[in-house]
Amino acid sequence: MHSDNWAQKAKQMGYRSRAVFKLEEILQKIRIKDVLNILDLGSAPGGWSQLTKKKYPNAEVFAIDVLDMDPIDGVNFFHESIENISNIEAINSLKGNFNLVISDIAPNITGISAIDGENIFELNQLTIEVAKNFLDSGGTLIMKTFQNNMLKSLRKDMELSFKIVQTYKPAASKKQSGEIYLYGVK
Ligand SMILES: C[S@@+](CC[C@H](N)C(=O)[O-])C[C@H]1O[C@@H](n2cnc3c(N)ncnc32)[C@H](O)[C@@H]1O
Repeated sequence: MHSDNWAQKAKQMGYRSRAVFKLEEILQKIRIKDVLNILDLGSAPGGWSQLTKKKYPNAEVFAIDVLDMDPIDGVNFFHESIENISNIEAINSLKGNFNLVISDIAPNITGISAIDGENIFELNQLTIEVAKNFLDSGGTLIMKTFQNNMLKSLRKDMELSFKIVQTYKPAASKKQSGEIYLYGVK
C-alpha cells in the first residue's frame, strides 16, 4: 500500500499516526501474552500508545516524549527525555516489571549523515539500557533503528542481554526510509 493510503487508513480508524501499522505487524508476528505494564519511548503524537492500549486493555501504558502529547485514556504520559527516565517516580517504581518496551524514537535529522548516524546510535544504546533495566525476565523490546553501518554493533549489544534478537522490516514502513525494527526477548 502507498504511504498516503496508510496515513488515510490510520485517520479513518482514529489513530494519530500511520506508525501504528508497523507496530501492529510486529505484534502479530511475535504475539506477546500477559502484558501488564508497557513503556512507550518517544510516544508522540501517540499512535503506538493508542494501539497498545487497545490491544492490551488491562495493561498500564507509560509514555514518554520530549514533545508534548495530547492525553489518551488510560495512558500515563511524561513530557521528558528518556535520558531522564530514572527521575520519573511512577515509571521507576515499576523497574523490572515491564513486559513490553516499545521505542519508535527518532532524533531530529541534521542531514549530515555521520552526525545523524551517531545520534541514532546513542539513543538506541540508551533505549537498550532502559529496556535491560525496566523489563522483567521474558519481557520484549521492540525498537526502531536504521539500516546503517552501526546496525551490526547495535545488534551485538542487544545479544549480550537478550535471549532472542531479530530484525524486522514491516510492509507499512517506507522502503526508502532505511528504518528497521529490532526486537529482543530478555
Ligand atoms: C516517529 S515519532 C514516534 C511516533 C509514535 N510511535 C506514534 O505512533 O505516534 C518519534 C518521537 O521520538 C521522540 N524523541 C526523540 N528524542 C527523544 C528523547 N531523547 N526522549 C524521548 N523522546 C524522544 C520525538 O520527539 C518524536 O515524537
